[in-house]
Amino acid sequence: MPTVTGGYRRIRVTPYGPALGGAVRGVDLARGLDRETYAEVRRALLDRQVLFFKEQSEISPETQVAVGRMFGPLHMHPAAPRMSGYPEVFEIHVHRDSRVANGEFWHSDVSCDEEPPMGTILQLHVLPASGGDTIFVNMYAAYETLPDALKNRLSGLTARHASEHVYRERYSDRGVDDRGKAYPSADHPVVRTHPETGRKALYVNRTFTTRINGLSASESRALLESLFDHCEEPRFQIRFRWELNDVAFWDNRCTMHHAIWDYWPEERKGRRVTIRGDRPR
Ligand code: SIN
Repeated sequence: MPTVTGGYRRIRVTPYGPALGGAVRGVDLARGLDRETYAEVRRALLDRQVLFFKEQSEISPETQVAVGRMFGPLHMHPAAPRMSGYPEVFEIHVHRDSRVANGEFWHSDVSCDEEPPMGTILQLHVLPASGGDTIFVNMYAAYETLPDALKNRLSGLTARHASEHVYRERYSDRGVDDRGKAYPSADHPVVRTHPETGRKALYVNRTFTTRINGLSASESRALLESLFDHCEEPRFQIRFRWELNDVAFWDNRCTMHHAIWDYWPEERKGRRVTIRGDRPR
């Protein structure tokens, strides 16, 4: 029997893996969240960085929006198509004819925004027979295991997070015409301090981070590559195997993730809402 952590009254949280993650039972998100359960979920998220709500039924878009809003105002994705009637909902849908699969490379969601989202709540309603797992990384641990000399070198450095190369025409097969649209970019500290826990986390990722400011192009590339390789090490990861209607809620301020597209030509589908965050410091 796995250990239940945290002394919660409304939910049961068991560690999903040693690096991060908590499996949550005892709450049915399709019914919304009362204040006490909300407070426990928020505490569990800070403690485990990503939560997996098990034994769920399908959450309506209204309820998913309402649950997301308890954690803060919702973020609007800069590129993805908007769900009819629910513009804050991003429908994840990958199938035989997809050209790209959402989240298939390492990233922290929309880190190219000046104020990137603090968290994301995703439920999947259609799953492939096997595959379609999502890998999450503990970016606190990635930072904490760096040698002191490298921590000192990174202190005060900022990096460019861009998205033109990611989003341009990305959703054209889903009806998005982005001609004339400008996609965001922003400079963020390479090491950020989590605004709620006060802990330091590495904040670079292969999808959006293009350049460390103030270094030559070759120095920047070499340092970024070594940081990417470091934080992608298996010891900082867990690999989540989805079951129908599972909900994942991750903290983008101290994790990154990678959705594996290994199930073509099968289908994988769900809905996500994303909660606005602060400017990284
Ligand atoms: C995402 O990055 O939002 C997608 C994650 C997933 O589909 O597992």
